[in-house]
Amino acid sequence: MIVETVRWRRVDDDRLAGLAEGALLRVLVKDQAVRFVRMDGVLRAMADRCPHQGKSFEGGWCEGGHVVCPWHRLQFDPVTGRCRFGMASNVEVFPVEERADGVHIGFPHTTVRIFGIDLW
Ligand code: FES
Repeated sequence: MIVETVRWRRVDDDRLAGLAEGALLRVLVKDQAVRFVRMDGVLRAMADRCPHQGKSFEGGWCEGGHVVCPWHRLQFDPVTGRCRFGMASNVEVFPVEERADGVHIGFPHTTVRIFGIDLW
C-alpha cells in the first residue's frame, strides 16, 4: 500500500529560535530552500519558491498575516499557502514544531507500507 506521510527533519540553524515577529529567514534543509517566518508568535515554513514565477521570497515582507513576494507583490498565507488574491497557485507549506531539541520541519513523504512496516 502506498502511503503519504510526513518525514520530520531537525533544522540546524540557531537563528530560528530568535527569529523576530514578521521576519523572514531562508534556510536550506536537506537541499530544499525553505522560507521561515514567525507570525503571531508561531514559526511557519513555506517553500522559498513563489508559485507565480518561481522566484525566491528574498526581500519580501509580512503584511496582514501574509508573506508578500517582492517581485510582483502577490501575498501568500504561510499557514494554508493560499494566494490572497487568487492569482497564482498555492505556495507549498510545511508543518513546523519547536521542540526542546530545536526546530523540526515536516516534509511530505511517500512510502510503501506492507504489514505496518514502511519499506523506505
Ligand atoms: S514571482 Fe512572486 S509574485 Fe511574481
